[in-house]
Amino acid sequence: MTQSIAVAQGALEVRNASKRFGGNTVFRDILLSLEPGAIKGVIGPNGAGKTTLINIISGQLAPSGGSILLGGKDITSMPLHKRSQLGIVRSFQQTKTFKTASVAENLERARLFRPVKASLSDDYIVELIAKCGLANRLDQESDTLPYGMQKMLGLLMTVVARPKILLLDEPAAGLEKQERYLIDAFVQTARTKLGCGILIVEHDMELVKRLCPYVYVLDRGTIIAEGDPATVLRRKDVIEAYLGATEEEVSIDA
Ligand SMILES: Nc1ncnc2c1ncn2[C@@H]1O[C@H](COP(=O)(O)OP(=O)(O)OP(=O)(O)O)[C@@H](O)[C@H]1O
Ligand SMILES: [Mg+2]
Repeated sequence: MTQSIAVAQGALEVRNASKRFGGNTVFRDILLSLEPGAIKGVIGPNGAGKTTLINIISGQLAPSGGSILLGGKDITSMPLHKRSQLGIVRSFQQTKTFKTASVAENLERARLFRPVKASLSDDYIVELIAKCGLANRLDQESDTLPYGMQKMLGLLMTVVARPKILLLDEPAAGLEKQERYLIDAFVQTARTKLGCGILIVEHDMELVKRLCPYVYVLDRGTIIAEGDPATVLRRKDVIEAYLGATEEEVSIDA
């Protein structure tokens, strides 16, 4: 049986983007694209600038140079809320939910960020809520959920906004190995049902290899390598970039 895949319109392009904080240049001349329906990874050691890159795409931070385009339109000066209305939606490295609100209320509030809303009874939302083990917990306050479920709720809050471009900042961080397969289901469902382009920042290389046919490696301010993960992760400079990492144990056996 062939599965029909929805395709959203409008590729994301990051053209020669740079970001400085005072005298600290985090990155420069970043070139990156994300087409509708594509899944791409961004990897790199701690402090490489991965979250900062998501921040300049989503509009949390202005780049110091370069431009961001969506569907050919320059959105570099567009504020965050307008970008989310256009469909650029991100998750956070530190999960952000409305802590005293229930799971259902959190999902309802997340729908408000976009004019084109999903219904919480849409098949894919119901399916994901069940997969994440949240079907029987819709009335539970989010900060009383186990950590893994809070994390999955944070991710579910991104897809109820029907993103066109979905930016995931370390979706698997802190999850048990078995729980990490939920991320696979989440990403594949979002891509299949919404046709969105998905950019995944992640330290779990197994997950990156499973999900991303294409990765960018960010290190010391530039993209030092890009392409299919099996090839990229064998490169000496990429391995060295990770050997320099101290805070995370990163396995890059490709
Ligand atoms: N708002 C800010 N003000 C000043 N410096 C910042 C700010 N945000 C990030 N930085 C600096 O930019 C650099 C990149 O940080 P960033 O959080 O983007 O890295 P990262 O690749 O996401 O790291 P990790 O893998 O640990 O999450 C770091 O040196 C950090 O201290
Ligand atoms: Mg980060």
